[in-house]
Amino acid sequence: MKTVLKKTLTIRADLGDIGANMNTMNELKQAAGIRAANMIQDGMTVGLGTGSTATYMVDHLAKRIREEGIKVKAVSTSWSTTLQCRKCGIPLMEMGEVSHLDIVIDGADEIDPSRNLIKGRGAAHLLEKIVASMADTYIIIADSSKKVNQLGEKFAVPLEILPNAIALVSARVKALGATVTVRMGAPGKDGPVISDSGNLIADANFGLIKDPAKLARDLEHIPGLVGHGLFIGMADKVILASENGLEEF
Ligand code: A5P
Repeated sequence: MKTVLKKTLTIRADLGDIGANMNTMNELKQAAGIRAANMIQDGMTVGLGTGSTATYMVDHLAKRIREEGIKVKAVSTSWSTTLQCRKCGIPLMEMGEVSHLDIVIDGADEIDPSRNLIKGRGAAHLLEKIVASMADTYIIIADSSKKVNQLGEKFAVPLEILPNAIALVSARVKALGATVTVRMGAPGKDGPVISDSGNLIADANFGLIKDPAKLARDLEHIPGLVGHGLFIGMADKVILASENGLEEF
């Protein structure tokens, strides 16, 4: 399956059940989500990402389970996705009991031409990376605003940090050339953003990232930094929706 999906192709969208008028961001996200959910086959184990684009994919998977009777077993990457799955009847497995998945589908914040990613605007990047690492095929879905020439164009790199290591990690990441901001004030909540695993989230702004693979390796050497939002060489396929249709690369 991997070999097939690695082929580069550009497709004018068959917009199926969302109609031809893709003129809002949400419709673009939905188009990408539907395309990816249609790649899930009966009997597969599936990893379900987090975020507004993934939500559309989860909705369409639930529709296929209801209407086509396909059977899947899923792993969720966040409480947010878990609650959605429970509501719409997608059977879930415990992440901690799974080490392999047939397919994982998720959104992203930035995507470069080599399919390297920045993820974590929704603070789910640690669990998303664990689940992505289980995948035979890892598919990214997004609207075309997420495409960049170089990572760091629009977003800082999200970090997940053990609370007791916040000073050490901040100092070490600053020494790598970033400004570091602890993420505060999720909507409806005062104080720092806390991940689903109970850790702090910070954003490291490196500006344009010349060598994302090296930066990822450098970050991985910092004790207490349990996760970062650089996903290097992981995505097998990107489905990008624009007003002209769906591009896959
Ligand atoms: C969650 O932490 C993120 O990695 C999301 O997958 C990413 O932010 C994409 O979200 P949207 O689809 O909402 O843009």
